Amino acid sequence: MKVTVSRRAHFNAAHRLFVKDWSDKKNMEVFGICSNSNYHGHNYELIVDIRGDVDPITGMVIDLKELKDIIKIEIEDILDHKNLNLDVDYFKKVVPTAENICIFIWNILRLKIDSKNDLEVTLYETTRNFVKYSGK
Ligand code: NI
Repeated sequence: MKVTVSRRAHFNAAHRLFVKDWSDKKNMEVFGICSNSNYHGHNYELIVDIRGDVDPITGMVIDLKELKDIIKIEIEDILDHKNLNLDVDYFKKVVPTAENICIFIWNILRLKIDSKNDLEVTLYETTRNFVKYSGK
């Protein structure tokens, strides 16, 4: 029996969407106000879904305390209250869209979550705009 266990987390971060090789005009055309050169912030909401078999002894797919600690150490401590473009090396070359932040988070967590379990990351950039990535 496969069950999905989910943990919700939160971080605040600033970013600017722009492609270095493009002119300011082209960046504005493509990214609009999200390309504002003085950056802007979001209250990101993160949902981590772990899907796997329920251990017959412990009754758990994953210990939620362990998942909480992984998210805190591996994601929140890296991204919370940061300027993604300036403070996170990965986003010096990759545009920090919700899509790319979601992939970044998934890649980190995938290394920490038992490979027998499926992993899906959902990232809300606003209450209405959110993206999902499951490694496919
Ligand atoms: Ni933005």
